[in-house]
Amino acid sequence: MIVAIDGPAGAGKSTVARALAERLGFRYLDTGAMYRALTWLAMQRGLDLGDEAALAELADAEPVVFDEDDRVWIAGTDVTSSIRETRIDRMVPVVARHPAVREVMRARQRQLGREGDVVIEGRDIGTVVAPDAAVKVYLVADREERARRRIAERPGIGADALATDLRLRDESDAARTRPAPDAIEIDTTHLRVEDVVERIEALVRERTAV
Ligand code: DC
Repeated sequence: MIVAIDGPAGAGKSTVARALAERLGFRYLDTGAMYRALTWLAMQRGLDLGDEAALAELADAEPVVFDEDDRVWIAGTDVTSSIRETRIDRMVPVVARHPAVREVMRARQRQLGREGDVVIEGRDIGTVVAPDAAVKVYLVADREERARRRIAERPGIGADALATDLRLRDESDAARTRPAPDAIEIDTTHLRVEDVVERIEALVRERTAV
């Protein structure tokens, strides 16, 4: 079974998807980490981030690997921490917008999604990667709340810079971030993580009962 969790940056996807996977005993797949790892490697190798063909080739040649501890690897390097740096936050939408890159990533995501029960987190999971997912959830939250959450994750960056980054990312990710028509939308602004997880868990249990 696939549970798709989509939504914009800071809506709570990672925290919720991770906790949900743990509760259900499902695997967890963070597709944003795949675009982040590719961006890290492309920058490391000095590639032109506008070169769609070169980036797609790199994505194909150097698949992102998640180990059993959910650490993220690319080209033999553990990039779990480096992909959360602000420089990656800023450049990843530039890489993620190339259709050829997305094709490679989506094929790999579908392959990983076929290996049993999994919670997949991203932007286009319910719409494109797994349109037949058993449960689709679209998380949203007020921009102020999303900025607050990001500040907690990125203590090194000032509030103003962070708000600007978030706005720019929202704009560049907007074309790829939309709910599937059959997704359940949950506004997490005033909810605790446990409440969101419980709500989605109930949807999954309903599905498995059918
Ligand atoms: O969720 P995140 O911040 O880790 O995502 C990183 C970037 O990757 C973000 O700019 C959106 C993009 N992304 C995407 O285009 N499609 C996905 N399925 C997941 C992430």
